Amino acid sequence: MEPNIKVAKSAGFCFGVDRAVNLAISHSGSDPVYTLGPIIHNRHMVDYLAGIRVFSVDGIQDIPKGHTVIIRSHGVGKETYDRISEAGLRLVDATCPFVKRIHRLAEAATRENRLVVVIGDIAHPEVIGILGWCGNAVVFSSADQVSSWLSENTAALAPMTVLSQTTLGRDTWIECKDILKKECTNAVFFDTICNATDLRRQEAADIASACDCMVIVGDPMSSNSARLADICRKKCNSVYLISDAGELPPSALTGCHSAGLTAGASTPEWVIKEVLLKMTEEMNNTAAIQTEDNATEVKETVENTASASMDFGEDETFEQMLEHSFKTLNTGDKVNGIVASVTPTEVRVELGTKHAGYIPVSEVSDDPTVKLEDVFTVGQEVETYVLRVNDVEGTVMLSKRRLDSVKGWEDVEAARESGVTLEGIVTEENKGGIVVSVKGVRVFVPASQSGLPKDSSLSALVKTRVKLRITDINRVRRRVVGSIRAVQFDERREMADKVWQEIENGKKYSGVVKSLTTYGAFVDIGGVDGMVHVSELSWNRIRQPSDVISVGDKLDVYVISFDKEKRKISLGHRLTTDNPWNKFVTTHNVGDTVKVKVVKLMPFGAFAEVMPGVDGLIHISQITNRRIGKPGDVLAEGQEVDVKITEIDNEKQKISLSIRALLEGDQLSDSDIANASLPDEIVAVSGESESADTAGDTDEA
Ligand code: F3S
Repeated sequence: MEPNIKVAKSAGFCFGVDRAVNLAISHSGSDPVYTLGPIIHNRHMVDYLAGIRVFSVDGIQDIPKGHTVIIRSHGVGKETYDRISEAGLRLVDATCPFVKRIHRLAEAATRENRLVVVIGDIAHPEVIGILGWCGNAVVFSSADQVSSWLSENTAALAPMTVLSQTTLGRDTWIECKDILKKECTNAVFFDTICNATDLRRQEAADIASACDCMVIVGDPMSSNSARLADICRKKCNSVYLISDAGELPPSALTGCHSAGLTAGASTPEWVIKEVLLKMTEEMNNTAAIQTEDNATEVKETVENTASASMDFGEDETFEQMLEHSFKTLNTGDKVNGIVASVTPTEVRVELGTKHAGYIPVSEVSDDPTVKLEDVFTVGQEVETYVLRVNDVEGTVMLSKRRLDSVKGWEDVEAARESGVTLEGIVTEENKGGIVVSVKGVRVFVPASQSGLPKDSSLSALVKTRVKLRITDINRVRRRVVGSIRAVQFDERREMADKVWQEIENGKKYSGVVKSLTTYGAFVDIGGVDGMVHVSELSWNRIRQPSDVISVGDKLDVYVISFDKEKRKISLGHRLTTDNPWNKFVTTHNVGDTVKVKVVKLMPFGAFAEVMPGVDGLIHISQITNRRIGKPGDVLAEGQEVDVKITEIDNEKQKISLSIRALLEGDQLSDSDIANASLPDEIVAVSGESESADTAGDTDEA
């Protein structure tokens, strides 16, 4: 027969200790790292850490500047953080998230001038750390202390916040709470007991009651280990509290048919393994090992578990306490927990109860594309809703989505009252509009309030994030209606106010073309529309704005003029640097021969394009050396001809051209040249030569 040894699943490191030890190991390296006090109360682990240059020190003054200091899972007061910062040390905060939560509660209570009452051991490092976040505080370790304080102290009438040490026995908490509740009408209570200790105690009692001998591995100086041994002694006559395998007496297991093994929260896995090996050897000849469901590999026994903390009352049986623990969670409860692990399909949550909590991906969010690693990080505190409790498997299915929905409904109702803007994801398009998920609440947005132009396809909005305002709530039918358009309207008005405050001539904007007319384009420059006249759209000859731009195009514009009273802005688009006249005068001279294209015939001559955007005039007298009735007798629009540049008037931007000057034997007389000059009212840049003077102020759309 093989030895029958039952190993507690909860033996070894709890979640907070495991996290702290791993942080210490991961920050070790060639430079020494320091912990403020031993990271755990186990000399084997402290020796191991010293071997990898993680040293325990008594105070900040013992740590050289620039080095790393690790705060252990017990946590420290606020002042210690300040001193670490002043000392120029690098901080690694391994405070257990459950303890950190108590710090936040104490700090918030202090901010509100509330008295903080801590139920716990005033000498325990965790309680000392908590007091470091309080202003006015008192600590009680028993109901008797609470009673005598109440009888002597009027401060009991003051607003107070009552917290517990994480390892406090639940019976002590309940007794103290009951007394305070009766006397202190201004008290609020936060049950901050961590339940890792409780599960360890329950399981130890369970195993001890079924074994001939019980071995507890832990620090004999630790009150938690001593308590574990006491609990086991009530269930088993032969109990040994040892710190390692070497302390197990040789005769301890003689004659044992079955033995149990558990360990305190500071006992490393390898120490438990050595003890198990020694027990196996000792029992090898006297008992058989029976592998039962709850006898597991040691690796499994150090699985980090935070479970319901409960003090064993003298009158309460273990079964009653177990039952009590099971009843701590019910479907529909709101519970806080700490994220222990994240996988692509679920999040494991330490709830501080006996149950292993998990949130399936489908219960995280309405967003089907959500990635759990984007939402959760290990150690993060989460508030969830209990969906299903499975006492047989010891699991509890949680939902964040449903809690968000409940809270979301409250937020949506509040938003309806206050008119604040909310954000959500468009989940579907349906008849007449779209549905937006806002904090888990379905909000219907009619097509007319979608912010899109009439008859646009709403499907483009699906899966996008939108801002909206709640316009109507039907509480009975739980129907909520919202408007995206209302938000856009306000945003646009705000932007418009800003534009009008800052506008000045010459100011540049990057705008968007909103609409086109035959005489120009309306351009949105940020909540306000200005008009760009067709003549301002291009240096080249264009018939209408749609020749060069379309609705939706981005357009760089500048302010030509504006009228704040009439709310009109005239915008320009053409840049001086692009002016074709400048290009022409730097590349052409009087006397040059160029090929031109006849673009317009007039009674006095023909306009010809010298280069894009620049036209010159061939006076009727310079078309040929013969007398002609009109330019059309010789030239046609679109015809290309060689001409000589006979005059460039830079000031008036006029060019005179001559075909006749190129004809053999023909000489220009002074009167010819005078006749060939361009009339003053005609300028050479083509974009301006023919444009009607329709430019003016523009209407704001
Ligand atoms: Fe944290 Fe609970 Fe352990 S408070 S350190 S997980 S006992």
